[in-house]
Amino acid sequence: MLDGRVRSVLERLELETDREKRQNLPREVRSRQVERTTGRFLFALVAPQTDCEVLEIGGSRGYSSIWLAAGARYLGGHVLSTENDPKKIAAWRENVADAGLEDWADLVEGDALETVAKIDDVFDVVLIDAEKDDYEALFQVARTKVEPGGLVVADNVLSHEETLGAYSRARQDDPTLESVTVPLDRGLELTVVLR
Ligand SMILES: C[S@@+](CC[C@H](N)C(=O)[O-])C[C@H]1O[C@@H](n2cnc3c(N)ncnc32)[C@H](O)[C@@H]1O
Repeated sequence: MLDGRVRSVLERLELETDREKRQNLPREVRSRQVERTTGRFLFALVAPQTDCEVLEIGGSRGYSSIWLAAGARYLGGHVLSTENDPKKIAAWRENVADAGLEDWADLVEGDALETVAKIDDVFDVVLIDAEKDDYEALFQVARTKVEPGGLVVADNVLSHEETLGAYSRARQDDPTLESVTVPLDRGLELTVVLR
């Protein structure tokens, strides 16, 4: 549910991100969070599903996690996010708590290339939003956690088309998947696992 606590944390994070962009801070310290419209889109993917289990790879300070967890709270569900930067981990925990969403979201600390394989769960929706060079490996490990009917969403496939064009083509050429590039904000690849 998008209550006042959720809205106010989202708005604060948007203001922080705008300020960081204006200050031209190095990418390691910026949140690099999804656009607001992408956040709404993620919410819309999750909120209508009953007991939706979400895996997020690249939680940063929690902006997209909060959209996803607000969706998961709607009809039941849960978000498991992953993050490897200690400062972002601390901010993620604080922001998710400020939004009142601790019961709907948890964080796994460490390199997702190692941690995801060890998660003993399957997911209905996966969001990949980490380093672009790792997307292929992250998809391969995430796919082991998604059953037929599950959805993998990858952000930045148009903003980083040189790196991620191959990611989209591989998904669209795979007969065991149905995949489409959605030209929203930085570009989202939506991939449904068929078998
Ligand atoms: C683009 S930002 C994610 C933004 C976030 N999804 C949001 O919209 O609020 C990418 C994040 O992924 C984290 N990251 C990159 N590679 C990772 C990895 N292998 N394992 C875990 N976290 C990773 C980075 O530290 C960074 O915070």
